[in-house]
Amino acid sequence: MLKGKILVLGELTPPYHKSSTGDDTVLLIREPGVLKPSQLITRVKSDPLIKGVICPLGQEVNSRVLGSLSQLRVISNIAVGVNNIDIEAAKRQGVRVAHTPEVLTAATADLAWALLLGGARRLVEGDHLARSGQWGGWEMNQLLGQSVGRYLSYDIEGEDESKSKDESKSEDESGQGVRSIQNTLGVIGLGEIGKAIARRAQGFEMRVVYHNRTRKNKLEREYAWEYMSLDDVLRESDYVVLALALTPETRHSITRERLSLMKSSAFLVNIGRGALIDEEALIEALESGHLSGAALDVYEREPLIPDRLRALERVTLSPHLGSATVAARRAMSHLAIESAVSVIQGGRLRGRFVV
Ligand code: GLV
Repeated sequence: MLKGKILVLGELTPPYHKSSTGDDTVLLIREPGVLKPSQLITRVKSDPLIKGVICPLGQEVNSRVLGSLSQLRVISNIAVGVNNIDIEAAKRQGVRVAHTPEVLTAATADLAWALLLGGARRLVEGDHLARSGQWGGWEMNQLLGQSVGRYLSYDIEGEDESKSKDESKSEDESGQGVRSIQNTLGVIGLGEIGKAIARRAQGFEMRVVYHNRTRKNKLEREYAWEYMSLDDVLRESDYVVLALALTPETRHSITRERLSLMKSSAFLVNIGRGALIDEEALIEALESGHLSGAALDVYEREPLIPDRLRALERVTLSPHLGSATVAARRAMSHLAIESAVSVIQGGRLRGRFVV
């Protein structure tokens, strides 16, 4: 007997549903994409059997939607972040909110590193040059980027970007002083994704500092990661990665004042949510050359990316691809369905829920 329908807004990544909906008690029905809150209300109301919604992170589910739709039992977000959903309103209405943690952790941490490495080594600019037909061959001073992993440098008089970094000294065979220099990675937000990003830094022999709401003593001991205030992470780091959830408390964590604490050689990566940063202030910091560069996967008003940001050369922009691997998107689809179906089937809950 049909117990209810689930409205899926947009695409899922197959194969997914046989195992979740195998008993035919729950039917998945489709809408091509996200809806305005008022359209969502009308669509769900048009069929009293719709008891669940599976949606991408671009779907706003506000208190008006939740307050108007007493038939709803579950909203299943195909994302780990749930900032598009009014969680307090869901609690008030007794609507379950599901999400897709863990299955996207590796993909998102990999993308953070792709952005960091690609940005530091000017990969996108290099790609444009290679395709342009204008490349004249290897050149000594072409597209010089910044080192990421531990690197060697000689004691040379004059300007040296490495002066403020952690280093150990030795001599090479000719008796010259060689310095082995370590960059510092600052991870802001040490949840599952932040941890996976920090762990990947071991292979690059970087010093890792972090800021998080709660300290992670066990991880500090295990990996020699150092806890710091948010301001100190910004002051100390050569690379800063934002991996925080967006909540009213973390919105605009990276203000103009905080950007000014960063080293002028520092590079910023954001794979969390655009609104973690005051985007206007970031653009100004980049335009003025205060930061060496940035690589962003997320924006304050997606899909809008400000012209001034798009005009900056030392900025790598990706279109919210954090979890975009075949494996992650399949697993996210499966988990989102599993959670929503289990609420409607009743009995023991399967899946992952925020409330
Ligand atoms: C993607 O941005 C997510 O929150 O899963």
